[in-house]
Amino acid sequence: MASAAILVATAAPTGRRSPLPSSDSPSGPRPDGTHRRRHARPHQAQRHRAAPACALLLFLQVTFAATDIESSEWKGDLLAVAVTENDLSRGPDARFENAVLTKLDSQLGGLLSEASAEEDFAGKTGQAVVLRLQGQGFKRLALIGLGRSAPSTAAACRAIGESVAAAAKSAQAGTAAIVIASPGAIQEGFKLNAAAAIASGTVLGLHVDSRYRSEPNNVHLKHVDLIGLGSGPELERKLQHANYVSSGVIFGKDLVNSPANVLTPVVLAEEASKIASTYSDVFTATILDAERCKELKMGSYLGVAAASANPPRFIHLCYKPPGGNVKRKLAIVGKGLTFDSGGYNIKVGAICSIELMKWDMGGSAAVFGAAKALGQIKPPGVEVHFIVAACENMISGTGMRPGDIVTASNGMTIEVNNTDAEGRLTLADALVYACKQGVDKIIDLATLTGYCRIALGLSIAGIFTPSDELDKEVAAASEVSGEKFWRLPLEESYWESMKSSVADMVNTGTPQGGAITAALFLKKFVDEKVQWMHIDIAGPVWSHKNRSATGFGVSTMVEWVLKNSS
Ligand code: BES
Ligand code: MN
Ligand code: ZN
Repeated sequence: MASAAILVATAAPTGRRSPLPSSDSPSGPRPDGTHRRRHARPHQAQRHRAAPACALLLFLQVTFAATDIESSEWKGDLLAVAVTENDLSRGPDARFENAVLTKLDSQLGGLLSEASAEEDFAGKTGQAVVLRLQGQGFKRLALIGLGRSAPSTAAACRAIGESVAAAAKSAQAGTAAIVIASPGAIQEGFKLNAAAAIASGTVLGLHVDSRYRSEPNNVHLKHVDLIGLGSGPELERKLQHANYVSSGVIFGKDLVNSPANVLTPVVLAEEASKIASTYSDVFTATILDAERCKELKMGSYLGVAAASANPPRFIHLCYKPPGGNVKRKLAIVGKGLTFDSGGYNIKVGAICSIELMKWDMGGSAAVFGAAKALGQIKPPGVEVHFIVAACENMISGTGMRPGDIVTASNGMTIEVNNTDAEGRLTLADALVYACKQGVDKIIDLATLTGYCRIALGLSIAGIFTPSDELDKEVAAASEVSGEKFWRLPLEESYWESMKSSVADMVNTGTPQGGAITAALFLKKFVDEKVQWMHIDIAGPVWSHKNRSATGFGVSTMVEWVLKNSS
């Protein structure tokens, strides 16, 4: 290798071992996202280096290197070629017009021409074929479809990485290379971001959750060459950033995927404390038990927690930048229902998905995933409070009854006309607490309503905010993260259905506009001088296709904090 190798691993844990079983292969990340490293230096890296390469970066369990080697000369297990529909067009001589494809096709004796015709591969988005080869430097070639045009967004590049990961997994490839057939079609200014997004898509796609299996699912891929997407320190910086964010996304996913009998409020608090001890230069953790929350008069939150045998934990991590000099104070608040049975308004019927309600702490997973990433990125000039009122919504003789009246920590009284509208009750006290930290801006994330899933479907989160400025900030952050959001109105006239005959408000209004009345409820617990946004992630928290959590919200929150840092 021409240049010096840089190996960057996420920090080793200083706290005790996670109570959750470790995820991934023996060399993969633990539930806290840290790693056991099997190879201090990847075995394949030197063997393949025919041309001078960029420094080598350890990205979770995979090393990445940038290189300008001709793809036809690359040696290894899996060469992935990303092609647009246009790249597959032929000239009058029936040969590909695309230079990369022509070269590979002639090297492979016309196999690509044959495959594109016979395997019906047209380069469409999501299409992929893997061809097994003999007598070549690479054992397999994957064609990955890009659709009409070269990738121009982080999301499109991540999808390439995910396809490569899927191909590598099924081929049990130990090494892979990724090349874009028409790299010239990618905007020059976007190339390095494209490389980083492809890398993060690859590692996120490779992540398998074996924590709860008797036999681990081993992932073989250890090294990836990125061909023709640039090199140098700027790329290394972007890869490193993507590495930190991805470790946060995986941490968030692992939290949501953990079942409620393992991930109780106490365990969630322990996981959060571990982030604070791992990055103790920038974090402090405050964990409040029920007793302490009672002193703080958090009657709304404690009402929800009352039925459960698993005690609640109010979790507060505080990030302070190295060297101080804080210019802005932010809070990110997450709904942390480790399970939501509905309470006495129990979730009945197939459509309510009670068996999936472990995902009801998805907001808190976004909060702690972002914290984990930011603990590594260490942005200057910004203080960030990560706040979760964690508990379980269960049924018992000590539980809240429908019709009970609870009092939140700002003194407001709430008639609980539906125990299944519990998220807002916990967030009420969490938002009051966040305002007491003297922050300028608050974003809360919550799997708050089924109504938001109906309104926006399962890929898009709903945004509610009185602040156009905050809306712009999050829109800009989502451009980078590739996560999708849509702003919905905080229609004040809908408050009518939230009025109570005995208390200051009820917790459930009419089902029509139910995501909006939920947001209006939260607004009652936020100081008017604080900029606030509520994000309903009930749709995108989960991928039904992958039967897994998505880690939604982590990357957008990281980018939002960075926009507020100096
Ligand atoms: N956790 C649910 C919301 C939810 C439902 C998330 C389905 C993901 C999938 C929340 O606590 C809830 O039960 N909301 C109710 C509110 C209603 C009772 C006012 C809902 O939206 O149905
Ligand atoms: Mn509920
Ligand atoms: Zn809930």
